[in-house]
Amino acid sequence: MRISDPRIVAKLAEISVGLQPGTALADLTSLGIGGTTDLLRIKKHESLPDLLNLLDANHVPHKFLGGGSNLLVGDGELPWVVLQLVRPEPDVVLDGNLAHVDAAADLGRMITFCAKNDLGGMEGLIGVPGTVGGALRMNAGAYGMQIGSYVREVKLYRAAGRKIEVLRGDQISFEYRHTSFAPDDMMLAVILELPSKPFKEILQGIRICNEKRRSSQPLGQKSAGCIFKNPPGASAGRMIDELGLKGLSVGDARVSDRHANFFVNAGHASAKEMLTLIADVRERVQKTYGVSLENEVVVWNA
Ligand code: EPU
Repeated sequence: MRISDPRIVAKLAEISVGLQPGTALADLTSLGIGGTTDLLRIKKHESLPDLLNLLDANHVPHKFLGGGSNLLVGDGELPWVVLQLVRPEPDVVLDGNLAHVDAAADLGRMITFCAKNDLGGMEGLIGVPGTVGGALRMNAGAYGMQIGSYVREVKLYRAAGRKIEVLRGDQISFEYRHTSFAPDDMMLAVILELPSKPFKEILQGIRICNEKRRSSQPLGQKSAGCIFKNPPGASAGRMIDELGLKGLSVGDARVSDRHANFFVNAGHASAKEMLTLIADVRERVQKTYGVSLENEVVVWNA
């Protein structure tokens, strides 16, 4: 979708929102898949209410993009614009055991920065690509921990009330890859309360998690992490593997040879190919195991 009305373009500049016309979302997602639309880069959280009022008044549909690492975007010219926060400098400020983190901060860099300051707890998420805001929205987790456990406070834009609000951690429910945030809530910043731990000890945990991940996941290949959530008491990856589906392909969309719940873009896969592969695998698992796998990856299909 293109914003061409000069009045809207002028207003965007006025409220410190950068307009990047015709941006290929394939370049902004870890899967390397996705069509083209206008990208709006938000430099100040405070401009969000004005921006959303402007878009709504002009009937411009929109979506919020984080780090694009758990996302499958449709092909071609997309029927909505995309909003993304510009990362401020600094993006993490420490105050005792509290880390004040901007939602646009890179998750891995935040974990490392806190570790260097003897704050731990987040070791399991090292190696997970994406922003802190994205991790928060999905309640990212690995190796027995989840980010939600450390949340003291979240600053967010709530589309329903059209304003910026602050929620305490205990007002938010964090479940397995799911939170009580509304789909159109936009994460802006978070305060994490992290346990004190000597850097050396945290580093050891980080090394162990890195090693586990390296040995079981297709790092370095274009993917969106796990495609399906694990059904209660079972492993989606193991079921897909048991069905002998590693290497199954539709065009360049392929079930990873290393971890069967990772689907990789082995070249120039389209969203259509990836979605066909996802539907095919889901159907085969349903047939054999009677389990309907739920997407873990977020799909923005036109
Ligand atoms: N397995 C297989 N074949 C495979 C993959 C896995 O037999 O191809 C078996 C493993 O041997 C193991 C079991 O399935 O016995 C579980 O596998 P793994 O330990 O790799 O964990 P997972 O349940 O597949 C989950 C998360 C990952 C997270 C890891 C580590 C989900 C959907 N996935 O994977 O998160 O990194 O645990 O904690 O919850 C993601 O969220 O995108 C993601 C990758």
